[in-house]
Amino acid sequence: MVRPARRTDFADLARVAYDTGFFGESARLYFPDETLFADLWIRPYVPLALPGFVALLEGRVVGSILGAHDEGAYEAAIRRVAPALALRAAFGGYPKLPACLPYLARLARYAVPHASPHAFPAHLHINVLASARGLGLGARLLDAYLDSLRQAGVRGVQLSATRRNEAALRLYESRGFRVHEARVTPLWRPWTGRDETHVVMARSL
Ligand SMILES: CC(C)(COP(=O)(O)OP(=O)(O)OC[C@H]1O[C@@H](n2cnc3c(N)ncnc32)[C@H](O)[C@@H]1OP(=O)(O)O)[C@@H](O)C(=O)NCCC(=O)NCCS
Repeated sequence: MVRPARRTDFADLARVAYDTGFFGESARLYFPDETLFADLWIRPYVPLALPGFVALLEGRVVGSILGAHDEGAYEAAIRRVAPALALRAAFGGYPKLPACLPYLARLARYAVPHASPHAFPAHLHINVLASARGLGLGARLLDAYLDSLRQAGVRGVQLSATRRNEAALRLYESRGFRVHEARVTPLWRPWTGRDETHVVMARSL
């Protein structure tokens, strides 16, 4: 079953993102602080009312698609949650923060490419737990999200992936996404032992 995400799904959205955040496996390897991970990469979607969907199996959230309809609104949402995050960091709310700094420093150095926010104002992140893959949930999540963007009159959508995420690339291609830019990056080298290729994909709606 796929349904719209709600505020009460926050912990589940964070768990699914974390458990799949390293090329489909746990992000723990490069980002040991799970709370900081959630506050950096899920919390900004809360002021936007979590535009996206969750997939459930036997009543449990096993997959999600989350994004923003508009890049400007997303940036404003980041600015809105940033003070609370900084305060929490200052008061020791992220005990494993030091172990996350190598990744954060590399992310700042090796920026991930993006397509034009004018032509493709929306973006998305999709994740399905390993135990629930291959059941059609990813396709249903993506279809639901693309429908919601069309209904909202959004003109285009973009996403960032790596060539390693083969299943994801195939799914995106089957839904009309095309490679906008591909860039070799050393970002992941400490954890994968090699350069990876970041791929920006986009499609008009
Ligand atoms: C990408 C992902 C969301 C797909 O979810 P899923 O529920 O397994 O996908 P579905 O079962 O709906 O399959 C949809 C399509 O994905 C592709 N796909 C799924 N599993 C695949 C695999 N093992 N190998 C190649 N393609 C695959 C196929 O095109 C498939 O369509 P088809 O069944 O008509 O051939 C899931 O694999 C995942 O979360 N991966 C790890 C995280 C990730 O890579 N997220 C994207 C980051 S950019």
